[in-house]
Amino acid sequence: MTARPIDLRSDTVTRPSAAMRRAIAEAEVGDDVLDHDPTTRRLEQRVAELLGKDDALFFPSGTQANQAGVGLLARPGTELLLEADAHLVHYELAGVAANWGVQIRPIATVDGLLTAALVRSALRPATPHVPRAGAIAVENTHNAAGGKVMAPATMEAIVAVARAAGLPVHLDGARLWNAAAALGVPVARLAVGAATVMVSFSKGLGCPVGSCLAFASSTVERARVSEVRKRLGGGMRQSGVLSAAALYALDHHLDRLAEDHANARLLAERLAECSAVRPSVPETNIVMIDLTREGDSAEVVIPRLAQAGVLVVPFGPRRLRAVTHLDVARADVERAADILVATLG
Ligand SMILES: Cc1ncc(COP(=O)(O)O)c(C=O)c1O
Repeated sequence: MTARPIDLRSDTVTRPSAAMRRAIAEAEVGDDVLDHDPTTRRLEQRVAELLGKDDALFFPSGTQANQAGVGLLARPGTELLLEADAHLVHYELAGVAANWGVQIRPIATVDGLLTAALVRSALRPATPHVPRAGAIAVENTHNAAGGKVMAPATMEAIVAVARAAGLPVHLDGARLWNAAAALGVPVARLAVGAATVMVSFSKGLGCPVGSCLAFASSTVERARVSEVRKRLGGGMRQSGVLSAAALYALDHHLDRLAEDHANARLLAERLAECSAVRPSVPETNIVMIDLTREGDSAEVVIPRLAQAGVLVVPFGPRRLRAVTHLDVARADVERAADILVATLG
């Protein structure tokens, strides 16, 4: 057992580096609810530009920004069409129903990837008997599908179907930075046609807190986004201390995401040697590990792995999730693989 466990539970476990803490300490700040915080405004403008949108607002969490995005796009009594294992379906506590009176309409897929054809076939003609569709949401990368990337062509085709049906699209891009890094395309390329886009700084980019909701002002007004955020309790005062971390991360942590992806591939390759598990083939920084040996369960093996020095989370009764990130170096991943193989094999 090592002194400090190798924490692969999530890319949210990273702690701000000394340099990021300096950026936080030196941030110029103001009251963002009263008029504006200059550092937060700089971040919002930069994010809007990076995503090819007109503007953006800083939010305390991805969940809140996702909720705001849906609330801005879908009217009460309508349906939100989205992939069946999306974050908005499983991990936001039925928020779109509770907050907005919007019904989730999950679309089953084989591999987590929504397609234009699946969206088209889920659309129903308007009759007095079925709820109307209100909006479509997509997730890139797709967490529960093991960090799968949605290619720009797929997104464009979904947007085309949405447009034809008169529906706006919300993009849950908590890990859109990873998708762009994996594809080698500008992040804006993956957001084309989305009316609202959530991106997180607290995952692969290694910030302590924060997400942005970027939006197209043809569909959404800044004042409305601000209003919805406040209603959700997300108006923050001297938020520049958090935005400074995000600006630092955009300058210093975007270009290194490929390292996390290489480390995830390394972990999966090493685990492929072990007959007791079947690892996914990671496209980004997430490895799903299926337990194949009779009698093994996530509930039983996770404490054993923790005891041996590796932390992972369950993603189903016989599935574990391991995520690589800024705070695990290649050597840590090598060691984690040794421990996983020795403990599970
Ligand atoms: C795909 C996806 N969307 C949204 C979120 C929510 O982000 P937060 O934890 O900042 O609320 C997460 C968090 O892991 C996520 O994986």
